[in-house]
Amino acid sequence: MSAQTLLKVTDLQRHFPIREVQGLRMVRATVKAVDGISFSVKEGQTLGLVGESGCGKSTTSRLVTRLDEPTGGTIEFGGRDITHLKEHELRDIRRDVQMIFQDPYSSLNPRQTVGAILSTPLRVHGLHRGKEKARVQELLELVGLNPEHINRYPSEFSGGQRQRIGIARALAVEPKLIIADEPVSALDVSIQAQVMNLLAKLRNELDLAFIFVAHDLGVVRHFCDQVAVMYLGKIVEFGDKKKIYEAPEHPYTQALLSAAPDINVARGIAPKERIRLIGDVPSPIDPPSGCRFRTRCWKAQDICAQEEPPLVTATADVASRAFREGGVHLQACHFPEVKTDLVAEVPA
Ligand SMILES: Nc1ncnc2c1ncn2[C@@H]1O[C@H](COP(=O)(O)OP(=O)(O)O)[C@@H](O)[C@H]1O
Ligand SMILES: [Mg+2]
Repeated sequence: MSAQTLLKVTDLQRHFPIREVQGLRMVRATVKAVDGISFSVKEGQTLGLVGESGCGKSTTSRLVTRLDEPTGGTIEFGGRDITHLKEHELRDIRRDVQMIFQDPYSSLNPRQTVGAILSTPLRVHGLHRGKEKARVQELLELVGLNPEHINRYPSEFSGGQRQRIGIARALAVEPKLIIADEPVSALDVSIQAQVMNLLAKLRNELDLAFIFVAHDLGVVRHFCDQVAVMYLGKIVEFGDKKKIYEAPEHPYTQALLSAAPDINVARGIAPKERIRLIGDVPSPIDPPSGCRFRTRCWKAQDICAQEEPPLVTATADVASRAFREGGVHLQACHFPEVKTDLVAEVPA
């Protein structure tokens, strides 16, 4: 039986109206943080959402969890349109969709014990009534913490342990989808792998769907079924993990992969071929015309400034065969790099 679609996002948009100083005047402007993205996540499936800082990943996370409201597009969860539900209508969503935040220091209330932090969501949703303490201890055990530490405060735990508390809080209400927004970026490298292993174990044991946000393709490599690469509010490449890591078609994805050293070793790329991205992501207030990546792209031609490349399969022929195989691969570049050897692998 094939898994059902849990989350479906269509043409999602979040424009923030702001005022900025131009010379001596204050003028109105719009930050196009998320500018028309579409993707879906099936039950038990993991989507990696990857891109440099400022590309719109956290904004997307906040929209999907409905901590923020979109200015365009739709979000469906379990077949229900949740795009503009009011807070009091979001009760089921608040249970089914949970978030793990980047910073395990600021996301936990320092004045509450771990017991209080973990039992609050149980009470809010009326779960495990009268047996909250047992459930909290079970949750602590599940994330590899000592159940006897139930009366301790967040400050008494290390960074990695605090992130485990954040994970336990997300799991408390038995969600269907977890959005993890760079959950290990704030941790020491030595701790990152432990937390990643814990997340992978929980995902498999509890059959959770995940959206895993990262600024680095290396982090999500072993974790994701599919990957969406974001650049300046848009998805520039989307596909099954194998396609993204072994046959990236968009120059931005290639640059991100090139920056992840462990992957380069695996792919046999010599250091001299390393692609270095120059400068920062441009401002989402006034993004470049045509292809947004063109100002940093070594392949850019005139057409790239004039026409925005749509997110499509690289060639129609590949499209039909790849789709029959169930292997999705979309990219938005006027000059994508199509690996013909991988195409030939797909039986006609
Ligand atoms: N509330 C807001 N008001 C104005 N601009 C915002 C707001 N939230 C985010 N932005 C801007 O939107 C862009 C995308 O931000 P964000 O989603 O946090 O990116 P990422 O998580 O990929 O680093 C950034 O340029 C950021 O400054
Ligand atoms: Mg972010």
